[in-house]
Amino acid sequence: MSELFDSYRDSYATVVQSSIDFSGLPHDFFLRAKADLLRDVVAASLPGCDRPNMLDVGCGVGAFHPFLRNVAGRLSGIDISADSIARARLDNPDADYEAFDGQRFPFDDACFDLATAICVLHHVAPERWRSFVQEMRRVVRPGGLVCIIEHNPFNPLTRLAVSRCEFDRDAVLLRAGRTRQMLLDAGLCEIEARYFLLFPSAVPVARRVESALRHVPLGAQYAIWGRA
Ligand SMILES: C[S@@+](CC[C@H](N)C(=O)[O-])C[C@H]1O[C@@H](n2cnc3c(N)ncnc32)[C@H](O)[C@@H]1O
Repeated sequence: MSELFDSYRDSYATVVQSSIDFSGLPHDFFLRAKADLLRDVVAASLPGCDRPNMLDVGCGVGAFHPFLRNVAGRLSGIDISADSIARARLDNPDADYEAFDGQRFPFDDACFDLATAICVLHHVAPERWRSFVQEMRRVVRPGGLVCIIEHNPFNPLTRLAVSRCEFDRDAVLLRAGRTRQMLLDAGLCEIEARYFLLFPSAVPVARRVESALRHVPLGAQYAIWGRA
């Protein structure tokens, strides 16, 4: 079956960039910010596991994966878009990729240290959110982490970017509180959250202020993670 993102196999980066051009920043800036955040999460919450065996659910064309070279050990990606997965394989030959039907993830229980879903849930039908998070929980080992990164619906610039992005037309944005509750319902514990991408700037002072405000729902995106 053809999926929405199949048609963005070769244009994904261009379409994302055109939706955020108003910020004056390249897509890479946002990808690097997410990788930095994940590195912090791994260092703080997976002690002794500095290169986790990681699953990235809804990985698309794998645009994020070059930024994970100093974060992940073995990296696997799955997506419902077979064409995106084919592109991800071409661009990231070191990672393992698989297309699947969006139901049960094609892995045994407890085989990853870390499972992420980055800007994916808002493309999943809300009635499937719970089973999606439960699948993330199932494939993570006891003590491992599930981490979800999503758009913050309270941030006006996020809303602007979503309104300008042609593949976000049907997006249903989730508040952090809703995502947190789904992690709890899936049996995850030690839930933590952080808002980030408050300032479109990489200068150290901006990053320090952003970090001080990490619990205030201002940043363009948020990350929520919990322990299995
Ligand atoms: C906006 S893209 C994000 C891609 C990637 N995570 C990134 O940040 O660059 C959303 C991706 O989620 C995928 N997707 C949508 N529903 C899914 C589901 N139920 N299971 C897995 N992937 C899904 C889409 O095919 C698409 O590749």
